[in-house]
Amino acid sequence: MFPGTLGGGVVGRALERGIWSYDTINLRDFATDNYGSVDDTQFGGGAGMVMRADIIANAIDSVLKGKKKIIYFSPRGKVLDQKMAREMANISDFVLICGRYEGIDQRVIDEYEIEEVSIGDYILSGGEIAAQVFIDSCVRLLDNVVHSAESTANESFEIGGLEWPLYTRPSAWRGRKVPEVLLSGHHGNIERWRKEQSDDITKERRPDLIKID
Ligand code: ADE
Repeated sequence: MFPGTLGGGVVGRALERGIWSYDTINLRDFATDNYGSVDDTQFGGGAGMVMRADIIANAIDSVLKGKKKIIYFSPRGKVLDQKMAREMANISDFVLICGRYEGIDQRVIDEYEIEEVSIGDYILSGGEIAAQVFIDSCVRLLDNVVHSAESTANESFEIGGLEWPLYTRPSAWRGRKVPEVLLSGHHGNIERWRKEQSDDITKERRPDLIKID
């Protein structure tokens, strides 16, 4: 599953250039039986299997040396946003746990003070996609990954709302014209127009992003 989508685009190029790197380990290699079992039935009953604390702990111990943060991807976690991506991009070394089944034994979360991160209010069948979303959002904020620093500064969320509409050539297409102001060369007017557009779109689509002072 790795690098998966992280092998392409600017993040993939950064991987090739050694700006970031990763190792994967297979939890099954830490199983204590001959079948490679990593899960068991829940205490208290109920459907679904739980990943065992002892096996996850052995896997963590094999890679932990000096790493500052352990993250487990779970719908119960703090929801990833751009602010979290910025904070996480400053941390150099992580252990990321991708769960399967119902989840992992709570005791391993408590024992290692593992931070739970969610990528949104829906259920995925495993943490791998969440890990790739998380890594992508952090890596593209590292120096020399995205071409110009300005392109990350002007994006949705970084500007305090959603981004304005974007246009490129051709200037007329299927009878649809590019807004006149963008062709005017008047930087002050362009900036004003973009701010208005951004405010309107944010108000309409994501009023929750608007801060009331
Ligand atoms: N694993 C399953 N669902 C998830 C979610 N929404 N975010 C992170 N990890 C998950």
